[in-house]
Amino acid sequence: MKHEKYMGYLFEVAWILPSVAIPISVIVAVLITAFAVGIRVPDIAGRIEPKAIAATEPFDEPGLRELAPGKYEAAMVAQVFMFTPNEIEVPVGSEVTFVLTSRDVIHGFKIVGTPVNMMVVPGQISKMRFTFTRPGEYLIVCHEYCGGGHHAMSGKVIVR
Ligand code: CUA
Repeated sequence: MKHEKYMGYLFEVAWILPSVAIPISVIVAVLITAFAVGIRVPDIAGRIEPKAIAATEPFDEPGLRELAPGKYEAAMVAQVFMFTPNEIEVPVGSEVTFVLTSRDVIHGFKIVGTPVNMMVVPGQISKMRFTFTRPGEYLIVCHEYCGGGHHAMSGKVIVR
């Protein structure tokens, strides 16, 4: 009888421990990715009226501008089925802040081989920063289905 009661406790503890340990490990994993690994969700950097894109900085002159030595801002406009500009070139070690908005429908903006991965939503400005420490050609893809030419919507970051 005593033995059965003891086994009962044991089973209870065997269930309680994981039910405490699992949420704790999830919280620890979130803290590690947020602070140690530095994985960030993209900012919603602001709102913009799609009709006003051509008259609103920095989208009135889309492209790359140097903010400080080694620090760049790449302003890009997404629309079916292209990014404007669709190619930028920066020196190795550059910190690039990508600022995007969409003229029409929801697009995606993913730079393959980097953590840069955002939705580009009409009416909204999306912003994400990345430092290119390795030279190469980085493919930009639209990874949000946006219509017939979706698969062809791409671009390139050249790092030299
Ligand atoms: Cu733009 Cu898919």
